[in-house]
Amino acid sequence: MTSFTFATAGRIVFGAGSVAQLPQLVAELGERPFVVTGGSPQRHAAVIGSLPDAATFPIPSEPTMELVREAAEAARRADAGVVVGLGGGAALDAAKVVGALVANGGDPLDYAEVIGRGLPLTERSLPVIAVPTTSGTGSEVTANGVVTSTEHRVKVSLRSASMLPAVALVDPELTLACPPAVTAHAGLDALVQCIEPYVSPFATPLTDGFCREGILRAGRGLRRVYADGSDLAARTDMSLCSLLSGLALANGKLGAAHGLAAPLGGLLGAPHGAITAAVMVAVSRANIEALNAQDPAHPSLARYAEVGALLTGERSAEAFLAWFAETARLLGVRGLAPLGLTDADIPAIAEAASRASSTKGNPVRLPIAVFEQIVRAAL
Ligand SMILES: NC(=O)c1ccc[n+]([C@@H]2O[C@H](COP(=O)([O-])OP(=O)(O)OC[C@H]3O[C@@H](n4cnc5c(N)ncnc54)[C@H](O)[C@@H]3O)[C@@H](O)[C@H]2O)c1
Repeated sequence: MTSFTFATAGRIVFGAGSVAQLPQLVAELGERPFVVTGGSPQRHAAVIGSLPDAATFPIPSEPTMELVREAAEAARRADAGVVVGLGGGAALDAAKVVGALVANGGDPLDYAEVIGRGLPLTERSLPVIAVPTTSGTGSEVTANGVVTSTEHRVKVSLRSASMLPAVALVDPELTLACPPAVTAHAGLDALVQCIEPYVSPFATPLTDGFCREGILRAGRGLRRVYADGSDLAARTDMSLCSLLSGLALANGKLGAAHGLAAPLGGLLGAPHGAITAAVMVAVSRANIEALNAQDPAHPSLARYAEVGALLTGERSAEAFLAWFAETARLLGVRGLAPLGLTDADIPAIAEAASRASSTKGNPVRLPIAVFEQIVRAAL
């Protein structure tokens, strides 16, 4: 595709130690900062302490409709002028949704895709500074916030170009304390988020460059960072992989692995990356099979082979699939049954995944029966 639009955060600040710039960045954007952080704010006491006039709102889990409603109310009461998201993707997404809700008013379900009213967010969000402390989601440069509806048992997005953070402040040192399981799930998801936009029909020359670099960085850093979380060079590779994945997915879209993660995440409440990593090999196999059957010259087939070259040096889709399966195994991914999925859940999951917004970027349309086969293969 040689005509495209590309949008990202207003500014990207990257590097070890860069979080020291946060007070200055906040001062440039507004008064009365409102910090949305994860369930253990003490983990980031030094960073929060650098903003003495900030109100802090910890979210103890991935965001739910109830939590973002409550957080937006607290931000309104605090008369927040700028929102800081400090934490994993959960805190970043919640911060972005809070910024949008404070500016636009109303309830998250007014704007939510699929299960909500899907109204447009017409007002520009409060400025958001997104400071990731995991390397996995790229949420610091994406235009959506994922929220779980416990009532509908599904994860859906609020989405608008106006939700792109004003600043993405990415400091790999903030990820040094991530425990192995968080490092594994987040890192595998960052890699999946570089691969899906690379084989997507919405790929562009810009996103292609980000995907290739991100896949290379994950090939170099992912197993290393899991083996030794104090390896700052590997942490830096994975922070970059995550950032690049966000730049890619926000502009090149995702695919069926993320389409499945929407209903699976809502049902199982398991870490997002544990789910996308568990289904990625089966999704890719199904895509490759369908593409070969429908159009053996389809450009996405060559791209799967190139992913193999970037990860292993061998230009083949089989090399990619073998590397990914082995890496997921080494990093403790055990499939969907250990996360609580049963056979009886499969038809509803397959049906919901075929409708999910992320599935739109899949390189080929998969029938519901194939989604069922994928989930069975990933059990
Ligand atoms: N908006 C997007 O584009 C996008 C993309 C992918 C995923 N997501 C969303 O992001 C969320 C997942 O994000 P995640 O993988 O970062 O997980 P997370 O934010 O849920 O964090 C996982 C766990 O790690 C802890 N943690 C975070 N930073 C830490 C650190 N430095 N040291 C120790 N522990 C730390 C958190 O407190 C939490 O317990 C999901 O809600 C998912 O839907 C959003």
